[in-house]
Amino acid sequence: MYKRLFFACTIAGALFANISCTSTQETSVADINIIPLPKSVTQESGSFLLTDGMTIGISDPSLKPAAEYLASLLARSTGYHLSVKEGLDGDIQLSLADSFSPKEGSYSLHVGKKNITISSGNYGGFIAGIQTLRQLFPAEIESAVELPGNTWALPAVTITDEPRFSWRGVMLDVSRHFYSPDEVKELLDLMALYKLNKFHWHLTDDQGWRIEIKKYPLLTEKGAWRPFNSQDRECMRRAKAEDNKDFEIPAEKLRIVQGDTLYGGFYTQEEIKDIVKYAGIRGIDVIPEIDMPGHMLAAVSNYNGVSCFAQTGWGKSFSSPVCPGKDSALEFCKNVYAEIIPLFPYKYIHLGADEVEKTNWKKCPDCQKRMKDEGLKTEEELQSWFVHYMEHFFNEHGKNLIGWDEILEGGLSETATIMWWRNWHPQSLPEATAQGNQAIYCPNANFYLDVQQDRKSVRNLYEYVLAPDSLSEEQRSLILGAQGNIWCEWIPSVARLQYMAFPRVMALAEKTWSDPAMCYWDDFQKRMIGQFARLNVLGVNYRTPDLEGFHAVNAFVGETDVRITCVDPSIEIHYTTDGTIPTLESPVYEGPMKISESTDYTLRSFKSDGKAGDIFRTRYLKQEYAPADADAQPQKTGLQAMWHEGRFDSCAAIQKIPAKATFEVSDVTIPSEVKGDIGLVIKGYINIPAEGIYTFYLLSDDGSILKIDDEIVVDNDGPHAPAEISGQKALAKGLHPIEVQYFDYNGGLLQLNVYDPSGKKMDVNTGIYAY
Ligand code: ACM
Ligand code: ZN
Repeated sequence: MYKRLFFACTIAGALFANISCTSTQETSVADINIIPLPKSVTQESGSFLLTDGMTIGISDPSLKPAAEYLASLLARSTGYHLSVKEGLDGDIQLSLADSFSPKEGSYSLHVGKKNITISSGNYGGFIAGIQTLRQLFPAEIESAVELPGNTWALPAVTITDEPRFSWRGVMLDVSRHFYSPDEVKELLDLMALYKLNKFHWHLTDDQGWRIEIKKYPLLTEKGAWRPFNSQDRECMRRAKAEDNKDFEIPAEKLRIVQGDTLYGGFYTQEEIKDIVKYAGIRGIDVIPEIDMPGHMLAAVSNYNGVSCFAQTGWGKSFSSPVCPGKDSALEFCKNVYAEIIPLFPYKYIHLGADEVEKTNWKKCPDCQKRMKDEGLKTEEELQSWFVHYMEHFFNEHGKNLIGWDEILEGGLSETATIMWWRNWHPQSLPEATAQGNQAIYCPNANFYLDVQQDRKSVRNLYEYVLAPDSLSEEQRSLILGAQGNIWCEWIPSVARLQYMAFPRVMALAEKTWSDPAMCYWDDFQKRMIGQFARLNVLGVNYRTPDLEGFHAVNAFVGETDVRITCVDPSIEIHYTTDGTIPTLESPVYEGPMKISESTDYTLRSFKSDGKAGDIFRTRYLKQEYAPADADAQPQKTGLQAMWHEGRFDSCAAIQKIPAKATFEVSDVTIPSEVKGDIGLVIKGYINIPAEGIYTFYLLSDDGSILKIDDEIVVDNDGPHAPAEISGQKALAKGLHPIEVQYFDYNGGLLQLNVYDPSGKKMDVNTGIYAY
C-alpha cells in the first residue's frame, strides 16, 4: 500500500496547490484519505489522541443531536464514553459561528494536539465536519464491536471545506423490492459518511405501495403485497445461476396468506417519522415521491373512480394511469398527498410524472371533456394540466414540486424543478434552465446506480461534467446538483444494493461536493481504494474493481502469457478452465501463466472476508493470421449503413425485416437521419496495414456484434444499457470484410474503436474503412 502521508505531501501537493504540508515527519496516525475531497487541507506536525471521558462541547443547544451522533460514532469501536456539554471548552468543540458562510455544509475543522474544533454556520456543516473527522481516524473506528487494544490518534490538520452543490442525492426505489426501516437507516448512515444530503424516497410504483395512507388502507393492505413477479423470479434464477445469495428474496419479507406466498412490506406513518428524524440528525433531507399520474397500479386497482375505466392493468408500455378527467381521481391524489406532506418537513415534494401511458386518456370521455373545458389540445397538455393542478396543491401547502423531466412536455410552471433522467432527451436540462426552472442531474447512462457496473462505470460518473460551460451563468446557477438513482427491479437485498451502489456512491459524492478543478481520476481512484478498508470494517458489500488485462476474446499466435491485474491489491483471484464458477477452492492466480493452446478462463475475485465478486469469462484463442480478401475491390472510403426499422431484441432479428434506407458513413456510427427503434447493419472492409493482432472495442446501447471475415469478434448482443466489450483477431495485411450489427429501443449509442498491435488507436481519417 502507498503511504498516504507521502500522498498528502507529495502527490496531492503536486496536484493540488491548496493542500500544503508543514511537516514531512512520519507519524503513526492514519494517513489522510478523505472522500469527497475537501477544499483545503493543511497537515501540521503532531497528533491528537482520543481518550475515554473526553467531552464534546456545543456552543448552541441546536447542535446537541450532531454532538450525540458524533459521540455514538466514536463509542462503538473505542468503547469510550464522550459526554456532551454546553459551552466552549469541549475537548472536541462544535462552535456555531454567525460569521461563518451560511452555505449549507460549509465548515472548518482544526485538529490540534490538545483539542479539536469544528466551526460552521449551519447544522449540515457540523455533520460534514464530523464525517471528515471520522475519516481522519483509522478505518477500525467504524468497527461495530469494541477494539480495546487500539489507540485512536488523529493527524493534526486544518481543513476548510464547502460543497459545490446543495443537492447531493441518492434515490431509493422501495417499490420493486422492499427495504425495512433498519435497512433504509443503514443506507442513510452510508450517505452521511460521504456527505450526501438528499434522500429521494421512491415510495410507490406499480409493483408495490409502501407507505401507510390512513384514508385508503387498501393501498397497503393489498398494494404492499404481491405474489412473486417476473422480476422476483429473475432474481431467484440469478441467485442460482451465478452462485450469488445477494439475489435471493429475503425470507423475512415473505408472508403466507391462505396458502399463497406473498412478498412485500410497507412503512407505517410512525416509522416514516422515525426515519425522517434519523435522517435529519445526519443532515439528510427526505424527499418523498408518490409517483403519479402513471405507475399507480395499487391505487387504480383498489379504489374506484381513480382510473379512466374499471378495467386496469398494463397498456403497451406502462400501467393504466390516474384519470385527470375525473374529480374523484383528483380528490384521491390530493388526499394521498395531504397525508404525505406533514410527514416530510422539507421544501420539496416529488410528484414523479414519468412514463405515462396516455392511450386511456384518448378514449376516456372524462379526459376528453377535461381537455375541451380547459382548452387543452393534446394528451401531453392534459398531463401538464394534471402536474400543474397538483403543483398548485403543493404550493398551497408551502411545498415546491419536483418531477422527472417528462414534466417539461406541455409546459412547466415557474416553481417546478426537473430531475433530468432521460439521456436520450439531452435538451431537457438546457430547456428547463433557460426557462428559469431549477434542475437536478441524474442522466440514466451515468447516474443510475442499478445499471450493472463495469470497468468504466465509476470513472464515467466521476468524469461526467455537471453544469458545463455550454450553459449560461444564469442557467448554471439553477442547477441544484445531482443524484444517483437506485431502481430495485433486480436488487432484492441490501447486499445487492450495496454492491450496485458502491463504489459509485463515492464518485457521486465527490462529483457533487468537490471543486472539479481539483478532481483527478487517478488520485480519486487511490483514495477510493483507500476507503475500501473503511467499508470492509463497516461490512459494506462494495463491488471490487474489475479484473483487467484481458478482453472477452484474446487472440494469440504461438504462445502467450495470461496476465490478470486488479487496481485493488487486497483481493485474491481464483479461476477455472472448465467453465464452472470459481470458488475459494479453485486455483489461485499467482502471476502470469504461459499458454500455447486455446483456453477459456472463468475468473473471480474474492475479498479478504471470502466474499466473491463478479465472474469474468475470457477466451484465449490460438489463431493463424487470417488472410485478407484478395478479391476485394472497394470503390469508396467509408462504410455502408443499412437501416432496418423496428423493435428488435437481438441482432439476429434485424435482417428479417427489409432495409428501409442506406447511408454512407465514415465510421461505425448511427447516421443522423436514423431515429427511433432501429436496427442497423454496417458493412465494408477494414484495411489492415500490417500483419498483427488487432483489438476492437465495441460500445453500444442496446446490443451489437462485430464480425471480421464473417466471424464474430465481439458479441455485445441483447438489450442493455451502454456497455463496451472488447475482442481481438490475428489479421494478415490487406482488406478484411467487416460488419457491425446493432439495434436500439430509443436512440442510443454505437461506437467502435480499433487498436493496432502496438496499442495505438487507429484513425478513421486515414481511411481504414472502404466499401
Ligand atoms: C425513471 O427512470 N423512470 C425516472
Ligand atoms: Zn380519463
